[in-house]
Amino acid sequence: MVAEEVRRRGHEANLVRIKHVKRPGFLKAARMSIKQLEDVELNNVEADLDMSSADMVVIGGPIFAGNVNPFTRTFLTRAKGLEGKPAGIFICCSSQPDDTIEYIEMLTKMANDRGLQVKGSLVGSTKVKDQYAQLSKAFVEELLTLDT
Ligand SMILES: Cc1cc2nc3c(=O)[nH]c(=O)nc-3n(C[C@H](O)[C@H](O)[C@H](O)COP(=O)(O)O)c2cc1C
Repeated sequence: MVAEEVRRRGHEANLVRIKHVKRPGFLKAARMSIKQLEDVELNNVEADLDMSSADMVVIGGPIFAGNVNPFTRTFLTRAKGLEGKPAGIFICCSSQPDDTIEYIEMLTKMANDRGLQVKGSLVGSTKVKDQYAQLSKAFVEELLTLDT
């Protein structure tokens, strides 16, 4: 939805899916996430990880067991060309949006540590599924009006 909204506003959006090699079951996913693994195997090609030509990077993924999932973590660890780039982050979760501040802070810190300059965030909570379109619009608007 975020990529669609970026395109709707006349910009190019390159959507890169972070691909796991083998989808873990619930317990394994929780365990991997609690361990805060950031070097799991991904099925992406090298080019997927190269953000050098992007003007902005938007990165996110689901929260598992109170932590940013290991696939998003790994992507952030391996991605190239993040240094100094404006960024947006998003999380997908099932908590009430008001209870997600620590998740957002966690991902913001990880992104900032990798050299990204986080300018906005989005909480995609299943509790507010009916608001995804509206939230995506507001998020993209915030990111695209940064320097104007
Ligand atoms: C192993 C596992 C752990 C999860 N832990 C959390 C959690 O700690 N907090 C939370 O808000 N959501 C948690 N979730 C919900 C996911 O974030 C949610 O499933 C994900 O955002 C995708 O939504 P969907 O299941 O509707 O596709 C967990 C889901 C899984 C599979």
